[in-house]
Amino acid sequence: MQVSDSSSRILAGLLEARTGQQLTLNRRWRLETALSSLLREREIATLDELITILVMGREPALATLVVEALLNNETYFFRDRQPFDLLSAQALPALAKARADKKRLRIWSAGCSTGQEAYSLAMLFAEDPVKWAGWTIDILGSDVSEGAVRRARDGIYSQFEVQRGLGITQMIRWFEECDDGWRAIEPLRRMVRFQVQNLLEPPPHPGEFDIVLCRNVLLYLNNERRAQVFDRIGGAMAPDGWLMLGAGETVIGQTRRFEADTEARGLYRLVGENDDRRTGADRRAATGG
Ligand SMILES: C[S@@+](CC[C@H](N)C(=O)[O-])C[C@H]1O[C@@H](n2cnc3c(N)ncnc32)[C@H](O)[C@@H]1O
Repeated sequence: MQVSDSSSRILAGLLEARTGQQLTLNRRWRLETALSSLLREREIATLDELITILVMGREPALATLVVEALLNNETYFFRDRQPFDLLSAQALPALAKARADKKRLRIWSAGCSTGQEAYSLAMLFAEDPVKWAGWTIDILGSDVSEGAVRRARDGIYSQFEVQRGLGITQMIRWFEECDDGWRAIEPLRRMVRFQVQNLLEPPPHPGEFDIVLCRNVLLYLNNERRAQVFDRIGGAMAPDGWLMLGAGETVIGQTRRFEADTEARGLYRLVGENDDRRTGADRRAATGG
């Protein structure tokens, strides 16, 4: 299948307009592979035919499917492992003290893909039941991709997926075999909820998140959009909360809203007061202005 320059520009433009993700020239080779099964399912012969349908607006739902197919959903349980050790060793003990009166923690996995990150967080708590007895742990996973969120909610993973990042003991303890693979057991699923949310839009309620993970999501956003997303994430966090990014990602030079935690390398803290939690645009949206 040949991808013409104009087709690839239109597809890249659609993806960027909907999600902020830029399909840089050296990543455009992905188009062909990414869209091949959608074209087969819809019996569309070429990318140019697909573009014609999109441009004529005959099938608005198709544009959403195209965007979903172009998103990079790569993820696995306890991805990169060390960040989860960092949370266990530094952020969670500090929050256990700071929130001892309310015994409630809110955690947001922003750009959670098919849910492995959120379930990994749930396992951190579920594996230390004595410490967290009596606590309400609210873990929200969100993603712009409806398909990814649907899969996350189901909590069903193939043999290959469930083994990526989990040892056999964890796999057997937290997943049960089902017709379609391995399903997260009910107590784990109960700790996690998922919703479709675009990071270019106002953050989810209720906000006041104690920890936000936004890993491997902002890499391909332009600087302006990335700064806006940092702003919005900052507005959704508790003043003493933590932000965690992916390996190789940083806030340095990207936003003034966060700074690196001096003790916990790889975690970021809000700078200054977080008294008005919303961006100007979100404030106007809320007041109808
Ligand atoms: C590479 S995956 C990373 C998943 C997980 N955070 C991890 O590190 O394993 C990136 C995810 O970000 C999502 N994403 C991309 N742009 C987004 C946006 N504007 N709003 C919300 N999610 C977005 C994609 O759909 C994808 O599932």
